[in-house]
Amino acid sequence: MKLIQTKQELKEALKGERQRGKTVGLVPTMGYLHEGHLSLIRKARQENDSVVVSIFVNPTQFGEGEDYNTYPRDLDRDTEQCRSAGADMVFAPGAGEMYVEDSITYVDMNGLTDRLCGASRPGHFRGVMTVVTKLFNIVRPDRAYFGQKDAQQVAVIRRMVRDLDFNIQIIEAPIVREEDGLAMSSRNTYLQPREREAALVISQALFLAEQQIAGGERRGDFIRDKIIEKISSQPLARLDYAEIVDAAALTPIRVIKGSVLIAVAVKIGRTRLIDNIKMEV
Ligand code: PAF
Repeated sequence: MKLIQTKQELKEALKGERQRGKTVGLVPTMGYLHEGHLSLIRKARQENDSVVVSIFVNPTQFGEGEDYNTYPRDLDRDTEQCRSAGADMVFAPGAGEMYVEDSITYVDMNGLTDRLCGASRPGHFRGVMTVVTKLFNIVRPDRAYFGQKDAQQVAVIRRMVRDLDFNIQIIEAPIVREEDGLAMSSRNTYLQPREREAALVISQALFLAEQQIAGGERRGDFIRDKIIEKISSQPLARLDYAEIVDAAALTPIRVIKGSVLIAVAVKIGRTRLIDNIKMEV
């Protein structure tokens, strides 16, 4: 497995692959890998001749006062994990390599990015779309892999790929959870033991909603209120949002029907966590 730190070197390495007619799968990450990322790498391994994992903590998707500086980083550990999950190349550029100093161009979208996480993290998806576009242009993958935990990110990228005619298949893989239900996230490492315990309320609230819908409940407001009630019962939890939306358009739905996304964002202490459940009803 190769560790590559410049765009030029990566493009050259991939040119050979493409000339030999090989398919390329890209797994974009910000590193500090966990089982959720590894499941994406393994899936990419099964479906492509070559697998590239990008590891880049992207400054443009962090807002003022967010955790860009403290975001956990461990390239040696990540590289080892990529190797054992079957990656062929790890692309880990520095910020100066990824963005030219006087870069003034961004990729942005209306509507889809204003809701859910976009409402509390203005500019976040502009940063995500810009860096993902750059990665798509550098790697030119056949397939790109994203986790369902960032459900809005997946919806935004799918829409961007459609609107901008990228010839790339977007593959979404299910959320990987700890045994007690907490969705895996690099940010879980911020949680103190008491907060780690308190964070369980997030998945518990979602599982409760899932059960109620499976049992026949179809009122969106009712389910949303139940989620809010459950999360509010945990003193260390501060709700950012709980929404029941159409899984593709991300617009709120009153009657639960079709492809439904139940999405929540909650602050546990200083750590903002997101989680969701998708259902076909
Ligand atoms: O999901 C992430 O880790 C990031 O948002 C991504 C897609 C790698 C872009 O920086």
